[in-house]
Amino acid sequence: MAGNETAGGAAALPATAREPGASRAAAATPPARVPAHVAVIMDGNGRWATGRGWPRLVGHRRGAERVKEVVTAAPDLGIRWLTLYAFSTENWKRSVEEVIGLMRLFSRYIEREADRLSEEGVRMRFIGDRGPLESRLRRLMDGIEARTAGNTRLNLTVAINYGGRDEILRAAQALVAAAASGEIAPGAADEAAFAARLDTAGLPDPDLVIRTSGETRISNFLLWQSAYAEYEFTPTLWPDFTPAELAAIVARYGQRERRFGAVAV
Ligand code: FPP
Repeated sequence: MAGNETAGGAAALPATAREPGASRAAAATPPARVPAHVAVIMDGNGRWATGRGWPRLVGHRRGAERVKEVVTAAPDLGIRWLTLYAFSTENWKRSVEEVIGLMRLFSRYIEREADRLSEEGVRMRFIGDRGPLESRLRRLMDGIEARTAGNTRLNLTVAINYGGRDEILRAAQALVAAAASGEIAPGAADEAAFAARLDTAGLPDPDLVIRTSGETRISNFLLWQSAYAEYEFTPTLWPDFTPAELAAIVARYGQRERRFGAVAV
């Protein structure tokens, strides 16, 4: 993947200034055909960096810059919910250096972006098991969730220490506990009661799941919620992913026919 940035170099211009194609493609997609909820598996940071002879963390830093651009561009494209997979329950298997570097990056992102996210009308939430995270990061997460709770322009959800199986297990345990305590009748344990105990309670299911870096797997992401999602796999490594490519993917999604198991009429 070609790129001409220097290590750790951030894009200085707003996305729309660099990529007028993004807003043109957005304008071309009728609102009813825009995916309301887009979820992204941001993959390829490590390869982006090591391919240039740089440490993997440089790729993550560059990836965080892309997060900022995509968060700014998404509402202009008509996207209302954006969910980003930042750290999985399996990512603890990485080197201590990389794990600590990623956790610092998440804290820094929250600290540095808080004002901008608020000004841009972004409501920020987190999914995943917060228990194993450092208390400082947890406090930052709680703080920005509270601070942005009234915003409605874009619902940004970041998955940290998130695994679909882990989330489903925790929801199942909560449902069993609710039935055991008499809070709900066992017969009332239906889809809605289950979904209400997932980390994503209150969020709509994703319409479109994008994975970057050419890998074609879902890696434990939103397993319950993606039952009827459309998928897009792009070879672009996440640090090279642009608002213009997001706009092109949104436009392609607009051509798809979603049947949800029914027959086209
Ligand atoms: C996967 O690429 C990416 C991650 C595990 C980390 C994602 C983090 C960011 C994009 C940066 C910060 C995010 C936020 C929300 C501020 P990989 O490292 O597995 O890449 P590889 O497959 O090439 O090794």
